[in-house]
Amino acid sequence: MIRHAVVTGGAGFIGSNLVDVLLKDGVSVTVIDNLSTGFKRHLDFGNVKVVQRDITLADVEDLAADFAGADTVYHLAANADVRFGWDHPRLDHQQNLVATLNVLDACEKAGVRDIVFSSTGSVYGEAAEIPTPEVAGFPVQTSLYAASKVASEAFIEAHATAGRVRATIFRFVSVLGPRYSHGHVFDFVRQLSRSPKKLTILGDGTQRKSYMHVDDCVAALTSLRPAGDVEVFNLGADGYCTVSDSAGWISRRLGLEPVFEFTGGDRGWIGDNPYIYLDVSKAARAGWKTRRTIRDSVEDTVDWLLANEWIFDAR
Ligand SMILES: NC(=O)c1ccc[n+]([C@@H]2O[C@H](COP(=O)([O-])OP(=O)(O)OC[C@H]3O[C@@H](n4cnc5c(N)ncnc54)[C@H](O)[C@@H]3O)[C@@H](O)[C@H]2O)c1
Repeated sequence: MIRHAVVTGGAGFIGSNLVDVLLKDGVSVTVIDNLSTGFKRHLDFGNVKVVQRDITLADVEDLAADFAGADTVYHLAANADVRFGWDHPRLDHQQNLVATLNVLDACEKAGVRDIVFSSTGSVYGEAAEIPTPEVAGFPVQTSLYAASKVASEAFIEAHATAGRVRATIFRFVSVLGPRYSHGHVFDFVRQLSRSPKKLTILGDGTQRKSYMHVDDCVAALTSLRPAGDVEVFNLGADGYCTVSDSAGWISRRLGLEPVFEFTGGDRGWIGDNPYIYLDVSKAARAGWKTRRTIRDSVEDTVDWLLANEWIFDAR
């Protein structure tokens, strides 16, 4: 039973949803966030201690002081944007790997036992096996983002097998839902609010994706733990849709019939994965299951964005 948790990146999309659930479960929460892509207003509804700190640049002693008394550190702070990796080629290394090393050192100094890490299904690159299980190989990385997550996973595993922490690593597909602030639904709703008759879709629209709802994601983060020192769980939806399917659902939800214009090619950008669909049976055997369909997740995201248009100006 967790009494006190630290959530790094707790002002972000997934982190703030996680904070809500922890608070409902009676857990006291400290959020550490530099507010680079997160929003303090996501945390306005609960009794949370917020430390505004950049984990990459932090002194480990200061971070350890923030962690003091916590049973679990949920390490979600990261550069979460895969698409723009090559605009700033050192950012993923800094925000994802260096930050993770600081978190590991601070966990040890503060005596925190559990670390829960948000990795990604992108680590599998263009997987040979679909649905892709946790034991699949990933010989070739296709984005700086995924490369930094693979390296972070490896350091966490080394700390865990040395008995310094217990680690739960989640590799999840793209997540949707309330407070969503980056990704294709955000781009499409923003485009259509500005120009309702035309939607530009990166790639040819046939990319297959297995989007999941943030509620399902958070349910796994708060419930699954390793049998031993370390465990990896895939998280994703039961199936997939194409990007064009999603564009159609979004347009209908907005009551629009735009013309779709495709930029072409089977990838939307360098590192876009044309087919991602993870085997989530391991998490299911451990008691977790997806409750929201992909379409429901897309539509819920559209509804939240429509009710929170401030976020388009804030990003
Ligand atoms: N959203 C997805 O579809 C998705 C999919 C797979 C994995 N993930 C992972 O889940 C985690 C959360 O993603 P998200 O979508 O909520 O992103 P987000 O950008 O909304 O949240 C990230 C948070 O981390 C904070 N942050 C970034 N760098 C920091 C630093 N150096 N120090 C302190 N705070 C920092 C940001 O301000 C933000 O609040 C990330 O680790 C991401 O890689 C997300």
